[in-house]
Amino acid sequence: MSSAIINGKEIGQQIRESIAQRVETLKQNGLTPGLAVVLVGDNPASKTYVANKQKSCEAIGMFSELVKLDAATTQEELVAEIEKLNGRDDIHGILVQLPLPKQIDEDAIIAAIDPAKDVDGFSPVSVGKMMLGQETYLPCTPFGVMKLLEYTGIDVAGKHAVIVGRSHIVGKPMGQLLLQKDATVTYTHSKTNDLPSYTKQADIIIAAVGRPNFITAEHVKEGAVVIDVGINRDENNKLVGDVDFASVDGIASHITPVPGGVGPMTITMLLYNTVQAAEIASA
Ligand code: GUN
Repeated sequence: MSSAIINGKEIGQQIRESIAQRVETLKQNGLTPGLAVVLVGDNPASKTYVANKQKSCEAIGMFSELVKLDAATTQEELVAEIEKLNGRDDIHGILVQLPLPKQIDEDAIIAAIDPAKDVDGFSPVSVGKMMLGQETYLPCTPFGVMKLLEYTGIDVAGKHAVIVGRSHIVGKPMGQLLLQKDATVTYTHSKTNDLPSYTKQADIIIAAVGRPNFITAEHVKEGAVVIDVGINRDENNKLVGDVDFASVDGIASHITPVPGGVGPMTITMLLYNTVQAAEIASA
């Protein structure tokens, strides 16, 4: 039997409908939620991501402003732009698209964002609060994965979740969010020895390693839930995840497709965080 597909497009749409209602209520009270998206340079993938984020904002009735800066922008110039956005009443969320050009220290830039507007959840203040289980903006991709599991009715409490990948954006926070919901968490990564010996024990596998078709049948226990966070291009330029879908299909109980799984949830949770920031600002 085939694995059940976790449809991120559908779940994302449901959540976006409830966000749209919250946007409408804010607008009736005279406030339009605003997101500033800062793009430095001409990275083609970043340009596509940014365009999608802006389109989604506008589709839901939010205001979105693109701050487009030259690839030669200095760190000081970028900090000055962020400080301007920090001070603006019509901007509730600030997102600096990563990666940044080499001359700019990403950590310093992320730290310059007012934590009250850090809708990506990347700043040291947001990460610290998340670690402590305090209320804060959660990073959009792992937050979206938690929503996928919740909407699919998968209770993670007591389950063994094995995370493959240790990025600041996905792997590390993913483990924290699962831990907070009482999962038992194992972190693995591209340098883990004998990876299948870990992933084979998983009730839930989170593949976030950034390697096309890396997770195959040999990694997956019968009945495991497989969440594929990867967005890669294969040798034919086709969009593929970190999981070899055909190989794992029928072994996993549930699986997310690429595209249409985790991807749509990342932008959905960005909208969610932004409306939340606007509500807090209006309170
Ligand atoms: N680059 C890749 N993913 C992300 C993301 O979620 N947020 C930002 N700001 N940049 C990214």
